[in-house]
Amino acid sequence: MPLLAIETSCDDTCAAVLDGPSVLSSVVSSQGIHDSFGGVVPEVAARQHLGLVGPVVEDALARAGAELDQVEKVAVTAGPGLIGALLVGLSAAKAIAAPGRLPLVPTDHMHGHVAANFLEPDPIDPPFLCLLASGGHTLLAGVRERSGFEVLGQTVDDAAGEAIDKGARLLGLGYPGGPALEALAARGEPGAFEFPVAMSRDPGLDFSFSGLKTSLVYRCRDLGRDGVEAARADLAAGYQAAIVGQLVAKLSRALDRERWPAVALGGGVAANGPLRQAVAALCDDRGIRLKLVGLELCTDNAAMIGSAARYTAALEYPDYLGFNAFATGGSR
Ligand SMILES: Nc1ncnc2c1ncn2[C@@H]1O[C@H](COP(=O)(O)OP(=O)(O)OP(=O)(O)O)[C@@H](O)[C@H]1O
Ligand SMILES: [Mg+2]
Repeated sequence: MPLLAIETSCDDTCAAVLDGPSVLSSVVSSQGIHDSFGGVVPEVAARQHLGLVGPVVEDALARAGAELDQVEKVAVTAGPGLIGALLVGLSAAKAIAAPGRLPLVPTDHMHGHVAANFLEPDPIDPPFLCLLASGGHTLLAGVRERSGFEVLGQTVDDAAGEAIDKGARLLGLGYPGGPALEALAARGEPGAFEFPVAMSRDPGLDFSFSGLKTSLVYRCRDLGRDGVEAARADLAAGYQAAIVGQLVAKLSRALDRERWPAVALGGGVAANGPLRQAVAALCDDRGIRLKLVGLELCTDNAAMIGSAARYTAALEYPDYLGFNAFATGGSR
């Protein structure tokens, strides 16, 4: 009973075919076009989705060995995200579901990042604590059931991924900055430049990354162009260490507050090697299970949307024809 899932909330056009918790295919077409702008341009993203969504869905079906008329349910990201980009995916999903009178499942993107952990192989059962760190969000999610999560703390300004992308840009790296910053940082000395680990004395579980970015701006200004060039790897290492340090400190604080039998990660920043290592060390120290998904399930993909859809109420035809996408907030 194949479920077709579509995800177009930002700059990746994604489709996946699932059979229960098994991913039969997952196709991600990243829009490299935004690289030249140093970030995602919403208008451009929406237009690119328009051209890509059909071929990406066809490719996902072909890779799964499935035909369109075998699909029994369609899942799609309804939000949060870029509204124009979301509308393309939602319209495509409606157009695929409506002729066959199939049910449609409007899915929350952040629930998707959590639900990537429910996929085969080795799915995890709630309760667990999930650190979600991505391009637009950074939050600690208390996951007590598969159908949603409770926000225990979140960023008061920039997201971790946003800070990484902006920092990478300051250091002359392309977009998205995460993998490039990680590679550059691996050649540097994290202690060479100290960056503030924000909110470290704040007793709560919220995060803040905007001051860190400003501190990198001032460092670069003080060092001058040649100085930055000579110290790029050390700057990247120190900057990344400050981001990882804050994420791990808040995760640790959340574990102090409440007993969680397991920890999971989600969102694009969860692909970061030093973060994965630091969280593994923390969990090891506390004797807590750590669930890590593959890198392809950390950044945006439609398999995670199909997974969240399994625990989200479906809308029957024709109730979803008037359903709309949402840019912020959500259905949680
Ligand atoms: N190896 C890595 N190290 C650090 N950050 C990374 C790595 N790989 C990707 N990222 C970051 O992950 C972010 C993208 O994650 P994701 O695709 O989940 O974000 P998004 O969907 O745009 O935002 P959201 O999920 O909040 O709507 C980017 O900021 C990117 O730089
Ligand atoms: Mg995302």
